[in-house]
Amino acid sequence: MNKPKHIAIIMDGNGRWATAKGKKRVKGHEAGAEVVRNITEYCAKNEEITRLTLYAFSTENWKRPRLEVEFLMKLLEKYLKQELPNYLKNNIRFEPIGDIRAFSSSLQKTIKHVKEQTKHCDALVQSLALNYGAHNEIVRAFNKLKNKENITEEMLYNALDCKEDVDILIRTGGDKRLSNFLLWQAAYAELFFTDTLWPDFTTKELEKIITKFKKIERRFGGLNNG
Ligand code: FPP
Repeated sequence: MNKPKHIAIIMDGNGRWATAKGKKRVKGHEAGAEVVRNITEYCAKNEEITRLTLYAFSTENWKRPRLEVEFLMKLLEKYLKQELPNYLKNNIRFEPIGDIRAFSSSLQKTIKHVKEQTKHCDALVQSLALNYGAHNEIVRAFNKLKNKENITEEMLYNALDCKEDVDILIRTGGDKRLSNFLLWQAAYAELFFTDTLWPDFTTKELEKIITKFKKIERRFGGLNNG
């Protein structure tokens, strides 16, 4: 049976969730942060899952209204500071992907601090995609390799921020697109799209997805084993 080692999630629908409740969009992000916590703890307790990559802020999200961007930055910093004891308690390693140099020095410091403090943890890697875009990641990887000859797939993979194939890629919020997320690593991922808005996403729904995933015959371009 397939093992759901690496789960990646495009957490979409925060704004719509809040608007439908007559609240400001940012309230949806706040509720979304709670779900990040729940889903991460669930994955840390599930022995088959070793990595959870969450799309928290894309290279395109800078185009949002300034106040929403500022709110997301503050929420992220608050979340990381608050979460550090939980990361340690649940043995979760925090590993950001993306180009964090665009963030304020205070946020960069917090990101690096939490990464450093949790580097020994090994129940789960929680990888937040921060100022992340797959095109940007691939271009940065090429730049790291620019003096090398005969670049192989393995060399390119090692130069990427995220060095692990995705098994399950989930997008909440009803849209069916990848939005520049883990394009290299998701080459053979099983894709799951759900109408559930991210703040309503539960561990129960994740469990159902994992159950479906386990039954899928994955051939990776070959033929089945039978
Ligand atoms: C998409 O919803 C969500 C985001 C752009 C940001 C994701 C952020 C969180 C889940 C909360 C913060 C995370 C952490 C780790 C503290 P949207 O605003 O595009 O929703 P919409 O499609 O309904 O407008």
